[in-house]
This record gives sequence, C-alpha cells and structure tokens, in this order.
Amino acid sequence: MADLDDIRDGKNFGLGVAAKTEGFYLKGLNNSDWGLKNRLSRIFNKKSGRTVMLAFDHGFLMGPTSGLERIDLNIAPLAEYADCLMGTRGMIRTSIPPTCTKPVCLRTDTGTTILTEMNHNVLIAEQDAIRMNAAAMAAMLSVGEKGTEDKTIANFSRLVDIGMTYGIPVMGVTAVGKDMARDARYFGLASRVCAENGASIVKTYYSEGFEKVVACCPVPVVIAGGKKLPELEALELCYNAIQCGAAGVDMGRNVFQSENPIAMIQAVGGVVHDNLKPKEAFDLYNTLSAKKAPAKKAVAKKK
Ligand code: 5RP
Repeated sequence: MADLDDIRDGKNFGLGVAAKTEGFYLKGLNNSDWGLKNRLSRIFNKKSGRTVMLAFDHGFLMGPTSGLERIDLNIAPLAEYADCLMGTRGMIRTSIPPTCTKPVCLRTDTGTTILTEMNHNVLIAEQDAIRMNAAAMAAMLSVGEKGTEDKTIANFSRLVDIGMTYGIPVMGVTAVGKDMARDARYFGLASRVCAENGASIVKTYYSEGFEKVVACCPVPVVIAGGKKLPELEALELCYNAIQCGAAGVDMGRNVFQSENPIAMIQAVGGVVHDNLKPKEAFDLYNTLSAKKAPAKKAVAKKK
C-alpha cells in the first residue's frame, strides 16, 4: 500500500549525467522495438555479436533423417552448447524439456515434404509461436522458383507483419531454387529480398564472394552448414563466413551428423565467438572428442 505519510523527496537525479542513448549492437536493428531487440539479445551473444544456432528443423521436410531419429537423445543434450534452438513446434514440444531456457527460433512454415513439390507452404498460427515463447520465427523464402516464389514471399511478408505486431524477430531462410546457380549473386538476391520484406535475421549459404552477400544485407546474416562435410572443412566454412562478416551459423547436419556432435558444436562456437582459426577449432574438436572416448569405454567395462 502506498503510504501517504512517507513520500520521501528524491535526491538522486544524476544531474549532469547524460542519459544513455547507445545504439543497439546488431546491424540494422537499432530502430526496432524494445521487445524485438530484447528477444534478439537472447539469441546473439552480446560480446561477440554472433550466434551459434542449432538447426534441427529438417524433419518436417525430410522425416527422421540421420542424426535426427530421436530429438530427445540426439539434440536435447546439445542444447546447452547452442545459443539458440531452431526447430519445429512438434519436435520442441515433445522432445526438448521446457526447463531448457535457451531461446527458440521456431520454424513457422509447413505444408509439403521432399516427396512432392516443395515450398507450397503455409504458416502455423501465431498464437502457438507465442505459446511456445518463441524468441524468433523462421520461414523459407524461395526466390526464383516459378509458382512458389510468390507464395513464399507472401507467407514471409505475413509472418513479418505478425512478428512486428508482437515484437518477435523473423528469420528468412533462403531456399535454393532447383534451377538457380548457388552463387553469391543468387544468395545476395535472396538475402536482400528477405531483408526488404522485413527480416531481422537472414539465413543463407556460404559461397565465393560471400562478403558481398553480407554487405548488401542490412541485417545479421547467419549461414546454414549444408550437407555433411568432414569436420575440418565444416570449420573452414564457418571461419570463411565469419571472415566475410557473417553473424554466426544456424547449423544442423554438420553438427548432429558429426562423429562427436557435442565436440563439434563447441568447436563451431570457438570459431564463431572466439575467432579460432579452422585448425585451432579442429584441435579443440579432437581434444574434446578424445576426452569423450575413455568415458565411453569405462561405461562399457562396467557393464
Ligand atoms: C532449409 C534449412 C534446413 O532446414 C536446415 O535448417 C539447414 O541446416 P543445415 O544445412 O546446416 O543442415 O535451412 O530449409
């Protein structure tokens, strides 16, 4: 209860100290709303300005692909090493404990699988994204695919409207058109279309000339890892992308299909946050993997 007889005069007005008006630490997002910035601050490390997002959304298109057979067994243990979890509502709800407080970038488009024509996608209800406490929402944008480009751009635009209503950032996932060259020109165009339509984050693929893709995209760009590569090559990919100005990764297969996913995600984190060179990160991967091996043997002996 407010005590009328105890109204003490304020003394500490900080007179002479200018109010803080510092800019926001992420590219192109200074003019965003407080809620949107607050959510982005949960995803992007404030010291490095970058993020390691763990992508495990593949199943909605591909089913139980290698490494994603059991999200509870294969992905949940990786959560503590990721800055953000990117997946679908079904997998997160059923297989990631709600006590996990890592921010979620929720895949919000759905509709087709790899068995039919892709990209005729629809969006899930925004109420469910809010119910799941999404820190960001992701949807695909397929540029250059006749018959799907317009649908995915319309979807995406609507998702940004929803995101803006509730202060939830939207990540544009640039899909690669079947007949399009996978080069900086294409990824630059697709990334820019995401940003023009209001994306707060863009996810695309690394390519030669990637610095141009990043330069002409006014918001943070993260890279997908793509098909599984040998660990050192995957770390080189991350390194090259970071050197070109990427704000991190949203990586899936190169983490969860690795021989040692826990070691791999930490090695990726070394490149993204600590500026490790590929060789240094690979050494870290090997050291962490070696540490894991004896523990496995000990368990086997006990049995
Ligand atoms: C295409 C995607 C994938 O769902 C996925 O997130 C890609 O991750 P990776 O290529 O690292 O396995 O972006 O919709």
